[in-house]
Amino acid sequence: MPVNASRQKILIARAIFPDIADRLADHFDVVRNEEDRTFSPSELQAALQGCDGVFATLTERITPELLSACPQLKAVCNMAVGYNNIDLAAATAAGVMVTNTPDVLNETTADMGWALMMAAARRVTESEQWLRAGKWQKWRFDGFVGNDVHGSTLGILGMGRIGQAIARRSTGFNMRVIYHNRSRVAPELEKAANNARYVSREELLSTADHVLLVMPYSPALHHTIGAAEIAMMKPTATLVNIARGGIVDDAALIEALRERRIAAAGLDVFENEPALNPGFLELSNVAMTPHIASATTVTRRAMADCAADNLIAALGGAEPPNLLNPEARKNRAHG
Ligand code: GLV
Repeated sequence: MPVNASRQKILIARAIFPDIADRLADHFDVVRNEEDRTFSPSELQAALQGCDGVFATLTERITPELLSACPQLKAVCNMAVGYNNIDLAAATAAGVMVTNTPDVLNETTADMGWALMMAAARRVTESEQWLRAGKWQKWRFDGFVGNDVHGSTLGILGMGRIGQAIARRSTGFNMRVIYHNRSRVAPELEKAANNARYVSREELLSTADHVLLVMPYSPALHHTIGAAEIAMMKPTATLVNIARGGIVDDAALIEALRERRIAAAGLDVFENEPALNPGFLELSNVAMTPHIASATTVTRRAMADCAADNLIAALGGAEPPNLLNPEARKNRAHG
């Protein structure tokens, strides 16, 4: 379709719901990535030339180099709650607004944290693989015995909105909830989160039966769960990561799982994903999913709609509902 010079231009960096792409096309000249290729940095830079905005996903890295090569860019609207793919400080300095999609995915992501905890603790995927391989010949008293979820202690690292949604689910399982966070959350939120008790990181790691990682990634948290932290955990414990790859030192986790220093892990995110450390594939005591914690039709549509609304507002001169860097608007006005 020819580009209309009077309209603003955007890139939709990956394939999205066609009707939501069409909605964006009502407002902008849209460059689409119909083939759903993951752009290399130079391809992304080329695709963004002349673009005022980008509908991005966690596979696009928005770096200082990219921002300086795309001076027309005014808004990066990420279809994800996490935004560690974007250099926020560089975007702010360049006057580029950045938005994410909080809240719409809280409950769906919490469901997945729960699913991975149960799958890992109760050896669901491991026993299914064994069954599919035709190995089921007889019942055994100790066949695939795991560890209880009900009545246990749930440890949540990162008590944001998703962490709280995970904690709320634990009431029906008669669990105790402990948590650690950058700072303690308000008493009414602790109460709603099954009376969650704020503890030190060390107490959480050493006393929880199931440790769920739900904190946002930042470089300061790279490998925050490594060999030393895993060594503090109970030998019967489960580690679940639905946060981001890189928070856990995957090599250290593989070693600990291989030596049964903890019982099991449930992982939706990995360092260097989609490339997987091959060590994981040799282990039976890990349940793995390919970064799909928010992947229900309703939630993915809500995320895409939210990112589209942010983009329409940002380029329409209004403050986008989920603006992460309000200073960017001032920087552009003065730039
Ligand atoms: C998914 O990982 C997200 O950040 O939304």
